Amino acid sequence: MNLPNLTKARKRTRKEVNRIDYKLNDLYKNIGKDKTYHVKTYGCQMNEHDTENIEGLLDNVGFTKCDDMEKADLVILNTCSIRENAHNKAFGMLGRLKHLKEERPNLIIGVCGCMAQEEVVVNEILAKYRHVNFVFGTHNLFDLPRLIYENMDNSKTKIDVFSIEGDLVEGLPVRRTNTFKAYVNIIYGCDKFCTYCIVPYTRGKQRSRKMEDILKEVNELKKNGCLEVTLLGQNVNAYGKDLDLGYDLADLLEEVAKTNIPRIRFITSHPWDFTDRMIEVISKYQNIMKYVHLPIQSGSNRILKLMGRRYTKEDYKILFDKLKKIPGIAITTDIIVGFPSETEEDFLDTLDIVKKCQYDGAFTFIYSPRVGTPAAKLYESDKTTLEEKEQRLYRLNELINNYSLESNKRLLNNCYPVLVEGLSNKKGMIYGYTETNKLVNFKGNSDLIGKIVTVKILDAKSFSLDGEIVE
Ligand code: 5AD
Ligand code: SF4
Repeated sequence: MNLPNLTKARKRTRKEVNRIDYKLNDLYKNIGKDKTYHVKTYGCQMNEHDTENIEGLLDNVGFTKCDDMEKADLVILNTCSIRENAHNKAFGMLGRLKHLKEERPNLIIGVCGCMAQEEVVVNEILAKYRHVNFVFGTHNLFDLPRLIYENMDNSKTKIDVFSIEGDLVEGLPVRRTNTFKAYVNIIYGCDKFCTYCIVPYTRGKQRSRKMEDILKEVNELKKNGCLEVTLLGQNVNAYGKDLDLGYDLADLLEEVAKTNIPRIRFITSHPWDFTDRMIEVISKYQNIMKYVHLPIQSGSNRILKLMGRRYTKEDYKILFDKLKKIPGIAITTDIIVGFPSETEEDFLDTLDIVKKCQYDGAFTFIYSPRVGTPAAKLYESDKTTLEEKEQRLYRLNELINNYSLESNKRLLNNCYPVLVEGLSNKKGMIYGYTETNKLVNFKGNSDLIGKIVTVKILDAKSFSLDGEIVE
């Protein structure tokens, strides 16, 4: 048993990170023969991409993917711990799986992802969810074939979670959801330790991939017809800082741009690490999408300080204005309301910065205490009621939605390249995203999926646009 420990996970060691190549042990080569799998994913793009690796690993040892969880021989839950509701969803699913296992005792159940890194979660699984075969963490995903091999027929719940990150494994098998767009990890973990956030504990210290490995992956994707890569990290702007090889995100973006892959995105940015050179590179290359997700979290300097965000709203606005100088750029953000001790006055500061920035869009959340984080302690003496927080969220969303609508309306009657992603719910309609990451619905058929087409915008709503193909 390797049990997670948050106190250990908080530590940042100087131990060098080895970069090793993935190799499958022959022993596990056929463990999935005649068996099917289903992976359920919660949370962010990082988790979605981890699932692509999990599925790749499973395909690689002979399993077959099955879209119906109820029929699969192996079910894996790839969990998220960012907020309470993600937690609850995964535990709800574990309850459902208990019934499934009663009907089919040979069902193999695995739990992984961020929740697996939390000791409270693992203790709860051990106490109440013994139908789980094995739990593994974010640091040993590559070890999945061995875990399955050793725990398929085991009636005990095996926990194999490491609190400290290990080697960075290159060349993991991957089953990509799309051929035309792909996620590419550039940096794992986070060292910012914003006081509300569980990520630095569940994902470990900041570890960048080498530029040559990233470029190899992008070139390979491009060769196979991929049109869009999204460079992924909890804080992409910290890319390279841990490597000491003399390059950073600006250099990486520039090199990825030179591969001539048509569309490059990067998420998520932290204002603290955003340099002028990065802005220059973004504006210089036409294939770097003019879209930045720049979480502000709060507009109150007092709350920003309590959050440990390392900038004031004035610093943020200076950076925002520099980015806004890039023609046509879209900027979105994340905002938390009801952080412990947030007053009406603090909240009004948040509304004020939203009015100044007029975001193209925003993800908004009510603060959710995460066990082991510094803010969770502040929450114990927080007086603001949930009702008040819900009211704040409502008021904030109204404002945000107005600005989203405004920004969408500015696109009316203009034409934009759109990468078609799939069929809309409405018959005969397809959808895709503009370079600035705006969702557009328009008439078309499935032949266009994976192609970039020019679309004229005819109608604007808060969360999407309607248009027609003009080619
Ligand atoms: N409660 C509410 N929202 C949170 N986020 C991160 N941690 C919490 C939390 N404990 C939000 C932040 C972050 C986004 C991914 O999730 O806004 O940018
Ligand atoms: Fe969490 Fe992002 Fe802060 Fe890192 S930078 S601690 S991932 S909110």
